[in-house]
Amino acid sequence: MSTLVRKGSLFSQPGRDGKQSILSVNGLSAYYGELQALFDVSFDVNPSEVLAIIGANGAGKSTLLRSITGMMNRGKTAHIDGAISFGGRRLDRLSTEQIVDAGTTMVPEGRMLFPRMSVAENLLVGAHLPKARVKANQKLDEMFTFFPRLAERRNQIVSQMSGGEQQMVAIARALMSEPTLVLFDELSLGLAPIIVEDIYDKVTQINKSGVTCVVVEQDMHRALAVSDHVLVMLEGRIVLEGAPDTLSKDDITNAYFGSHSDGGTQ
Ligand SMILES: Nc1ncnc2c1ncn2[C@@H]1O[C@H](COP(=O)(O)OP(=O)(O)O)[C@@H](O)[C@H]1O
Ligand SMILES: [Mg+2]
Repeated sequence: MSTLVRKGSLFSQPGRDGKQSILSVNGLSAYYGELQALFDVSFDVNPSEVLAIIGANGAGKSTLLRSITGMMNRGKTAHIDGAISFGGRRLDRLSTEQIVDAGTTMVPEGRMLFPRMSVAENLLVGAHLPKARVKANQKLDEMFTFFPRLAERRNQIVSQMSGGEQQMVAIARALMSEPTLVLFDELSLGLAPIIVEDIYDKVTQINKSGVTCVVVEQDMHRALAVSDHVLVMLEGRIVLEGAPDTLSKDDITNAYFGSHSDGGTQ
């Protein structure tokens, strides 16, 4: 078991730049059985910003999002140590449903839709908790206004849709519970560049409406373009962080690939 040192107060605390953070992760370690995937990860997310997390395959990005959304404390083998606070409230012992209810949702890697269900049915899954259910029809209308492409296809079976359309369904489903923080995992993976533009345009609009966004992205240029603050992960640790305009390309590349990437990696 790890020798964990919890830093700072466990409850609401100043984040970066003297602002009150909306999400605060302190000394987070995560394990899949014997395998440790995160090592003492700490960072803050400021309200209404876009925070990007970049890193190579296997760096621990999805594990970090799973830890925040309560998916690492479900089974017997996967577990976490450390403190995660959201709006001053500890999340790390809550269930995924309680975390959604508190205002945090995720657009998971690979989307995890119900492929044989329609667009509308998939969206309603995002509003199945009591608090969201009372507003479900109103939210459904809002989503169809926000994504007109989905309105045209509201009764279509999701497996028959393109990757980009399915990604829109996954985003809309996450918005159905009126979250204040949305975590997006690998939005652009496998999508054509023009579709990626559309999807990120939506993320920007979601953020402008006041929703704090955490974007996990393997495409570092994309991540730097959309974010207010960037974390670079390598082998389960945050190895670099800062505002995009304060970080040099060389520093980011070295952090992303590890410091011994001199010339060997392109
Ligand atoms: N379900 C799992 N069971 C066991 N190990 C896992 C599981 N998911 C991820 N891992 C391991 O945890 C580490 C981090 O993986 P992940 O968080 O998926 O990285 P990323 O999202 O950055 O590609 C990797 O070594 C990976 O093999
Ligand atoms: Mg991942």
